[in-house]
Amino acid sequence: MNQLINFDKKNKVFHLHNDQISYLLEIEDGNTLAHLYFGKRIKNYHGELHYPRLDRGFSGNLPGSLDRTFSKDSLLQEYSSAGEMDFRTPAIIARQKDGSNATFLTYEDYQIIQGKPDLEGLPHSWVKDKDEAETLIITLKDEYGDLKFDLLYTIYRDRPVIVRSVKVRNTGKDTIKLEKVASMQMDFVDRNFDTITLPGAHANERHMQRNHVNQGIHVYSSIRGTSSHQMNPFVALVDKDTNEFVGDAYGFAFVYSGNHKFEIEKDPYAQTRIVVGINDYNFNWKLKSADSFQTPEVIMAYSDRGLNKMSQAFHSLIHDRIIRSKYKDQVRPILVNNWEATYFDFDEDKLKPIVDDAKRLGIEMFVLDDGWFGHRDDDNSSLGDWAVFKKKFPHGLDNFADYVHEQGLKFGLWFEPEMISIDSDLYKAHPDYLMSVPGRKPSPARNQYVLDLGREEVRNNIFDQMKAILDSGKIDYIKWDMNRHLSDIYEADLPASRQGEVYHRYVLGLYDLLEKIVDRYPDLLIEGCSGGGGRFDAGMAYYNPQIWASDNSDAIDRLKIQYGTSLVYPQSMMTSHVSVSPNEQNGRITPFNTRGVVAMWGDLGYELDLTKMSEEDRKLVAEQVEEYKKIRKVTQYGRFYRLKSAQTSNQCAWETVSHDQTEVVLSTVKVMASAQPYFTKTKLVGLDPDRRYEDQASHKVYGGDELMNLGIYDPVEHGDFMAYMYHFKAID
Ligand code: DGJ
Repeated sequence: MNQLINFDKKNKVFHLHNDQISYLLEIEDGNTLAHLYFGKRIKNYHGELHYPRLDRGFSGNLPGSLDRTFSKDSLLQEYSSAGEMDFRTPAIIARQKDGSNATFLTYEDYQIIQGKPDLEGLPHSWVKDKDEAETLIITLKDEYGDLKFDLLYTIYRDRPVIVRSVKVRNTGKDTIKLEKVASMQMDFVDRNFDTITLPGAHANERHMQRNHVNQGIHVYSSIRGTSSHQMNPFVALVDKDTNEFVGDAYGFAFVYSGNHKFEIEKDPYAQTRIVVGINDYNFNWKLKSADSFQTPEVIMAYSDRGLNKMSQAFHSLIHDRIIRSKYKDQVRPILVNNWEATYFDFDEDKLKPIVDDAKRLGIEMFVLDDGWFGHRDDDNSSLGDWAVFKKKFPHGLDNFADYVHEQGLKFGLWFEPEMISIDSDLYKAHPDYLMSVPGRKPSPARNQYVLDLGREEVRNNIFDQMKAILDSGKIDYIKWDMNRHLSDIYEADLPASRQGEVYHRYVLGLYDLLEKIVDRYPDLLIEGCSGGGGRFDAGMAYYNPQIWASDNSDAIDRLKIQYGTSLVYPQSMMTSHVSVSPNEQNGRITPFNTRGVVAMWGDLGYELDLTKMSEEDRKLVAEQVEEYKKIRKVTQYGRFYRLKSAQTSNQCAWETVSHDQTEVVLSTVKVMASAQPYFTKTKLVGLDPDRRYEDQASHKVYGGDELMNLGIYDPVEHGDFMAYMYHFKAID
């Protein structure tokens, strides 16, 4: 096996490489760790192409040095600190015992290891065997203090991806306070970047947004305690002419589900720095003597062929090496969920006919959503009381689960484990479990409060309650919801000096609770959710192989939400349901077929009362379900391409191709109709040009080269929101 990481001692250069990418680092003057290059593969670095020297006014020099041409303020640094002569955004801010924020980072040592170490307590990418990756650990030290920084870089043999994180160690006697610890930093020279980000809102998540990077600092972040609907933890840096198929794209995805911060700074010399990590807002970590702090990791993907190739690198890494669930390669069950069908107004008698209909229509799982526990008839009570609501299920939950199983369906159950209602037995018994600042009234949101998950006692209580339900062995799936963001940040078990740790300790507590569930119930399919897609991130993928993409189930709004989601996350991770028309969230009327085509982009489900549908519509459900069963292996696990965006045009088109190029599913939606339409074509991509493909509906045969170069004419029909799906199979 070829080595993936080399150290050139003479030139003091580290080279991480595989067939697709190279990453170069150099130990520069004053033992400063400098960034040289990240991009397309370079066979050999000959040690000649260094960062130039120039005396720049007001960019000072190394302590004790008379060389005015070398400055940490302009060098492409690999990991920079506050308190040294670099006035750009630092990766680390440490408060020393003397009260200063001085840290001066110099190179100390390195180590190369086979494979990739696990990050204890944090989600992370992993390796199947040690040969598939190598990890470089470079240790920097504070030249005048006790902090050490292990910078971890993992390169996989077959992926255009590098994964980075940092471990900070306190080797001295005194406690040091970490006020900021980024997981990575990268500096670029001579690039005129745009950023692509995924901002949004509740019911309007992850829209693609493109901004130009001008001089100054651009920040994309969350301080909501979760990765959030409002700003997904992802940024891409792309050249001005980069599009879906052409140009350089550097993507940075944070494997973390709490507060995050992406800082992109264009400096006075038109160089661009990106710093990614836990948000330093209300962050202050006391690092005692001999303690260490491990940051979450960042996946960095490089594409020399536009955004689709970058997305494919993320999809395959997240699917292959972050998701662990046994369901990761299994076709996902088609479900019906009773939320938009009944909301809180149900009991077992009302639900059983839905289950019966689901069976008749070929649906594979029934999910019992919010309202089955405590005395919950609306959203004002019972969170924290995970015992069945006898009024709705007089024969018990097991009995109802048996009924669902007898119909041949799997049974799924909704939980919201991180929350507490004032009107609950849990609050009566343990009011201190509710996260709040002593002497202040906490703010409700959806009339609920957040549990103090940093405390083990609180986590154990919730775990024991969930165990009592899940140990029955009758639950096949859970939907793990979270319906508000964190406020009133305080942990009752911690002294005043450590309240700056609470946000991160909450996330660590959440991961601990999830790990316990995943560990005890390996057969459980867990779907993540946070008021829709409020915690749709690579960290959650480690525990939840699928996540509810949005509380907005309108097919046309979903075009933008799902398009943005696909920038980073694989299709199998995104759940998407057909709901009623007019849509419950925005009142839009859309054809049933369109709702099906859009929902089949991800893991298909139904979010409506099957018993209230006309016989004709029910027939359509059965047809959709049958069709989906034929294509889902390709659509869930094939190579995914974005073709046309509804954000920038009147059409949306996307395509998945099986990895052996024998099966293809193409979907298109024309948003608005026109009385005098222009003809448009959709050209497929990623096919074998030498094969012939048969359209499974019309039985027409086309060459792969025809479909890719001539393209197919988009149908022209009356009416807005018309959708089309094509399923091609190779015939030779
Ligand atoms: C928010 C989720 O996104 C919905 O699907 C539903 O489960 C509700 N919560 C229930 O409260």
